Amino acid sequence: MSRDYRNALSCFATGVTVVTTVHEQVDWGMTCNSFASVSLEPRMVLWSIRKNANSHSAFTTARGYTVSVLSSMQAPLAGKFATGDLSERFAGVDMHRLDSGRLKLNQALAWFDCQLMQVVPAGDHDILLGEVKDFGWTEQPPLLFAQSKFGQMTTALVD
Ligand SMILES: Cc1cc2nc3c(=O)[nH]c(=O)nc-3n(C[C@H](O)[C@H](O)[C@H](O)COP(=O)(O)O)c2cc1C
Repeated sequence: MSRDYRNALSCFATGVTVVTTVHEQVDWGMTCNSFASVSLEPRMVLWSIRKNANSHSAFTTARGYTVSVLSSMQAPLAGKFATGDLSERFAGVDMHRLDSGRLKLNQALAWFDCQLMQVVPAGDHDILLGEVKDFGWTEQPPLLFAQSKFGQMTTALVD
């Protein structure tokens, strides 16, 4: 993909999440900013995974995934879950295992525990549609990602 096209896409500012799953009793996790809400009733969300990601087969064959939305304090976790060995990603991270068996990051701004409903092929990615089975949220500032940099809001949101 051309650098020019990536630069254009990176102008769209997003939040940052860490998605996790369990596949064959192994915990998998990766940084993701393609997360989006799709439907309110039923509650459905999506994100897309690169087809040649190491964790592609785990996420597309597991029963579901858990999305931890990162707070502005959690920028180091965004880097940790985007690189390195799988075993090192979870080392030293403050986490909690949900009833679904999947891990959510403690101190996350919000979280969504999802059952995988559909895997939609989309070019070099697959879209993972999930139904939200449980969720939670807190009042903290979000971590932002734009123009290839992490940041935080410098002004209060206007009602
Ligand atoms: C801010 C940010 C957002 C990302 N969003 C996605 C995403 O939505 N989908 C994806 O497949 N990779 C995304 N990545 C890249 C993965 O986190 C990275 O490729 C990771 O190493 C994949 O792990 P794996 O190859 O071990 O499965 C993102 C990386 C960063 C830093």
